[in-house]
Amino acid sequence: MDKIVALCKRRGFVFQNSEIYGGQNGFWDYGPLGTELKRNVRDCWYRDMVSAHNELLAPENAPSKYQMVGVETALIMNPQVWKCSGHYDLFHDMMVDCRATKSRYRLDQLRVRWVSFEGQTVKQEETSSELSKIMVTSTAEDFHEDLTSEALRAFGQKKKYADKLQWDGEASTLDRIDVALYGSVVAPGAEKAGTLTAPREFNLMMKTIIGALGTDDDAAYLRPETAQGIFVNFKNVVDSSRVKLPFGICQVGKSFRNEITPRNFTFRSREFEQMEIEFFCRPDESTGWYTYWRDRRYQWYLGLGVSKDRLILRDHHADELAHYSVGTADIEYAFPFLDEGEFGELEGIAHRGDFDLRSHMEGKLTKNAAGELEVELNEHGKPKHRGSGKDLTYFDDQAKERFTPHVIEPSAGADRATLAFICEAYHEDQQPDEKGVMQERVVMKFHPRLAPVKAAVFPLIKKEGMPEKAAEIFGALKLAGLNCQFDQQGAIGRRYRRQDEIGTPYCITVDGDTMTDGTVTIRDRDSLKQDRVPIDRVVEEVVARLNS
Ligand code: GAP
Repeated sequence: MDKIVALCKRRGFVFQNSEIYGGQNGFWDYGPLGTELKRNVRDCWYRDMVSAHNELLAPENAPSKYQMVGVETALIMNPQVWKCSGHYDLFHDMMVDCRATKSRYRLDQLRVRWVSFEGQTVKQEETSSELSKIMVTSTAEDFHEDLTSEALRAFGQKKKYADKLQWDGEASTLDRIDVALYGSVVAPGAEKAGTLTAPREFNLMMKTIIGALGTDDDAAYLRPETAQGIFVNFKNVVDSSRVKLPFGICQVGKSFRNEITPRNFTFRSREFEQMEIEFFCRPDESTGWYTYWRDRRYQWYLGLGVSKDRLILRDHHADELAHYSVGTADIEYAFPFLDEGEFGELEGIAHRGDFDLRSHMEGKLTKNAAGELEVELNEHGKPKHRGSGKDLTYFDDQAKERFTPHVIEPSAGADRATLAFICEAYHEDQQPDEKGVMQERVVMKFHPRLAPVKAAVFPLIKKEGMPEKAAEIFGALKLAGLNCQFDQQGAIGRRYRRQDEIGTPYCITVDGDTMTDGTVTIRDRDSLKQDRVPIDRVVEEVVARLNS
């Protein structure tokens, strides 16, 4: 992972946000190549899901034909939206604070493990008693090593005594530990045990103030998901675009979450981009659509070059499901920052029933004792959060029926997908240079649709008309809308390696033969094969290869 992060900075894929001021935790900037790559990810998603979808034909394995349309809604919405969606009351993580270090931790991200050291003791903050057995903690990726350092630090021992530590049980996370045992926990960097507060809820929505008065009544939230912008526009879309069930409304855009511990490069950020589909269908057809989208979305990542070995489709267990959900599956990727066998979520596909549309009609819904969804009431027996009261049902004019559509929600993260494509692309190999000496090569094997630079054009030498000829080819590729680079600096082998490192699929070289027979070489990044192609066929050839 360190090599990937270093390459991202060196070649301009991803930069730390506000780096010259020391950064801003949880926020990232994309450089010139990262911008192209992420744009290609978004464009592939939108094209494959929306603009290239043919509503006159049912795709393979789809229960029927369907329509897809897009919307672009604002980042800030009426706060009532979040009250009815449940985000205001329920969108939180459990966290603890450390009174000693003033740090805050997510319960499920703080690793803990019991340890003792030959009868040595650590002071307990509240009671001043001496504890010979404590729980040490870590937030590090490599938590095994970090737990050891924390244990040695807590007992005041040197590294060379690591093998004298007596561990009890396996490492766990703080959410699995009874609060009554917190007195034995030594927080990261704390001198004494028992400095953690009791767990409490922390709402993840980012608050902002609208208008000049700046009172609490003017508080609003940056959207934590793009989905609600779709639900509240359901009626507008049905009334304005003449879509008929089944159909999907899609949105790509920024979302914000006040993550307690942003981590793992761009994987968990506070500002990120989502690519969401809300697919509306008849309740009696929703199971078939759920299966369709679950598989379709998994195939999408495979089609863009992610290896089956590193991508899983994981169905949630019944106890992981939200109270309104009939089924949810996650598409997960084996990111290199995770332990062997662990996977991180790229996308969730949820069967949401009629929960969202009904919540925006009636008010916030909860499950009653009989397992049915009903409007949540306050202590006075009145709706806790009143819905819009607008009719968000749908009239099926063929079946002559009115009902609230069910929703399947494939919800993907554009930054997480981009990160997975970067991790997947990273390869190291050895290739001979011009003199036949083997050289280390870093090559980003991006799928041609995703590659930030599609082709590079090189004049072999800077004379004999080669730069001018190469410039003509470069201009023609640009006119065709392809992001290309022109490079005439250094030995040709070095120029190839510079392009390999950013994943350019094709390098076109103008050489001595070009000037006599009008052909150039096209070199393939992965096979390293070089073919001679007439200059007037270069654009056509590159476009054909990119689309193959
Ligand atoms: N509307 C449903 C929804 O928002 P989610 O599982 O919370 O579901 C969907 O988010 C996707 O958004 C995730 O699978 C992930 O790819 C991305 N995502 C969520 N939180 C993120 C974060 N803090 N940083 C980067 N991406 C995130």
